[in-house]
Amino acid sequence: MKSHLDIAKDHVAEALRPGDRAVDATAGNGHDTAFLAEAVGAAGGVWAFDVQPQALDATRRRLEANGVADRVTLVQRGHERMREALPPEAVEGVRAVMFNLGYLPGSDKTCTTEPETTLPALDAAAALLAEGGVLTVVCYPGHPGGAEETAAVRRWAEQLAPERFGAFGYRFLNQNNDPPRVVIVERRKM
Ligand SMILES: C[S@@+](CC[C@H](N)C(=O)[O-])C[C@H]1O[C@@H](n2cnc3c(N)ncnc32)[C@H](O)[C@@H]1O
Repeated sequence: MKSHLDIAKDHVAEALRPGDRAVDATAGNGHDTAFLAEAVGAAGGVWAFDVQPQALDATRRRLEANGVADRVTLVQRGHERMREALPPEAVEGVRAVMFNLGYLPGSDKTCTTEPETTLPALDAAAALLAEGGVLTVVCYPGHPGGAEETAAVRRWAEQLAPERFGAFGYRFLNQNNDPPRVVIVERRKM
């Protein structure tokens, strides 16, 4: 059975073509950044954000090991400021943005994403999406503060203008212990 991460990636893979622009809003250990970098190919561009230097170091190592570092810009900055790091032509020109909320796996769990910055970052990401572009958010309600953040992301997705965006939510129906949720937003083609 597919995992919550596979579901997010499936939607992104369907949207991305070689040469596209993409954003990893939470680089972490670089798994999603590497996936995006493969999908956009050598002619594409990926911007990956994280507030922790050790996350960007881990991401850089993974990209170099996979031979895809050439098309990725690593940015040590909160994702709520992603717009500043992208070129002007990226506005409404990004085909995929991935958020994987929570804390850096293997870290001390003290640095987690927070609704106060996640919600402005989601607004910024939605404004970057091209027609047919996809934004994915993996939410983890099980850690302290995670349930509130998950609920806030859901409310954010529910209020998106339906003529501009389609928003979908996935959750496991038969798992205990607060399993992850996945929110998928697609910018409609006009
Ligand atoms: C679950 S991890 C991401 C995992 C990653 N996608 C991967 O493939 O390994 C969440 C990351 O969000 C980062 N983070 C927390 N607040 C942030 C913010 N305001 N802007 C960008 N990244 C943030 C954390 O430092 C952490 O590395």
